[in-house]
Amino acid sequence: ILTAEAVLCRAADVPEGGALRVERDDGPPLAVFHVGGRFYVTDDTCTHGEASLSEGEIDAEELLVECPWHSGAFDLATGAPCGAPCTIALRVHRFELRGGDIVLVP
Ligand code: FES
Repeated sequence: ILTAEAVLCRAADVPEGGALRVERDDGPPLAVFHVGGRFYVTDDTCTHGEASLSEGEIDAEELLVECPWHSGAFDLATGAPCGAPCTIALRVHRFELRGGDIVLVP
């Protein structure tokens, strides 16, 4: 549960079509995705295992990330699982773009 705003990264640090893993002191690591000119922030750890989704394969057409371990997939916008073996939704996080920063908002 996020209780305070936090700057995650510079938007420019996340290449188009790519993702950045962000470690945090007060919670699980997050992943910032940059797809089709938009950003998405989710938990970085897959809900099936301990894989880092920022190392996964991004499908820009379907707006999915495919897990690097067992090829499960999640919708980047909603966190919905959309590929076996993932069945538990991925947490997505609210953020704002401010002065070039990606800022988590509670
Ligand atoms: Fe992600 Fe298994 S750890 S699909």
